[in-house]
Amino acid sequence: MSDEDRYVFIAEWYDPNAALLRRYNLIFYPKDASIEMYDVKNHRIFLKRTKYEDIKFEDLFVGNKVNIFSRLLHLVDYGDQYTAHRLGSKKERALALIKPDGILKMGEIIDMIINSGLTITKAKMIALTRDQALDFYIDHHAKPFLHELIGLIISSPILAIEIFGDEAVSVWKKLMGPTNSSLARSEAPGSIRAKFGTDSIKNAIHGADSVASAAQELEFFFPSNGGCGPSNTSKLSNCTCCIIKPHAVSEGLTGKILTAILEAEYEISALQMFCMERANAEEFLEIYKGVVVEYMDMVVELCSSPCVVLEIQEGNAPKRFREFCGPADPEIARHLRPQTLRARFGKNKIQNAVHCTDLPEDGALEVQYFFKILNN
Ligand code: TYD
Ligand code: MG
Repeated sequence: MSDEDRYVFIAEWYDPNAALLRRYNLIFYPKDASIEMYDVKNHRIFLKRTKYEDIKFEDLFVGNKVNIFSRLLHLVDYGDQYTAHRLGSKKERALALIKPDGILKMGEIIDMIINSGLTITKAKMIALTRDQALDFYIDHHAKPFLHELIGLIISSPILAIEIFGDEAVSVWKKLMGPTNSSLARSEAPGSIRAKFGTDSIKNAIHGADSVASAAQELEFFFPSNGGCGPSNTSKLSNCTCCIIKPHAVSEGLTGKILTAILEAEYEISALQMFCMERANAEEFLEIYKGVVVEYMDMVVELCSSPCVVLEIQEGNAPKRFREFCGPADPEIARHLRPQTLRARFGKNKIQNAVHCTDLPEDGALEVQYFFKILNN
């Protein structure tokens, strides 16, 4: 072992100009939060050791995407034994599924996931068909409760979440609590089922029993072969677009923001986590180019790490949600409209917690950009 801790990752970056996938070794030195990049193919230093405080040690794990000097790097593997041994040994991925009867509590449930130290790496709201539900519950086909179980899971949308962290499968199992919600209330009163479940079938969430079945379940919702998995639930009409910005997601505010939106009785008709490329962020925010001085900073923020995009139903009050988000500057919002999302969760004009559609006629277009165009 060297006298200074260094962690090495294999990172891939899609270079849009050359239309090439480039590969680097990304080296992180926790002592002074500095990074270094080495171009593996051309055997040369690509970025000499530089202090880079925008990156957090917790963000460095295989499967994550990190933004370094405006390049979105995908960490595809550990680069040496030491890193794999130190960081990789206990890390797992699992599927956390919020079932129809838990969906209005998604904010609180997500908050509990985050507070347990797990990271949300993917999320998508889905409406399963009966055939998909039967496929998913293949191990329960002989059970007496199958019919009721399928009926419940297809009754309205569910939220599929990929969670990642130390022993994610067992941490999630413990967080869920016993299958029967009444039993959960007596035996594990702090668990999700104790808090939000009704009985043994309506128990708010689902999780796998083993690492192997967790992997299968993730494959079902988030296939690794490039397929899309079950479609998102976007309706693409009569809606407005809300983006929980990357800084807010990284700060662990996703659950709290969702709770605030649901408590104000908005209907979230679609939800998906996206990791934007810079070119897409520029395209999405193009209408602000030359109009808002902060355009470039807005672009950098939007593609800095994953964001969570929502389709919100407008009903017949197209400006109400925008008013609920509040003035763009959180300082002003805190003075004038302290109950708004930006007043409660924003930091500054760029990191103001949420983006929302400005003009009612753009709502469907913005929603389409994510749920239809980027989704493919
Ligand atoms: P199971 O895998 O046994 O429980 P868990 O979700 O805790 O892993 O069962 C899957 C689902 O089937 C369960 O979440 C709810 C439903 N179910 C019933 O409706 N009745 C029952 O008696 C059981 C055991 C499960
Ligand atoms: Mg089970």
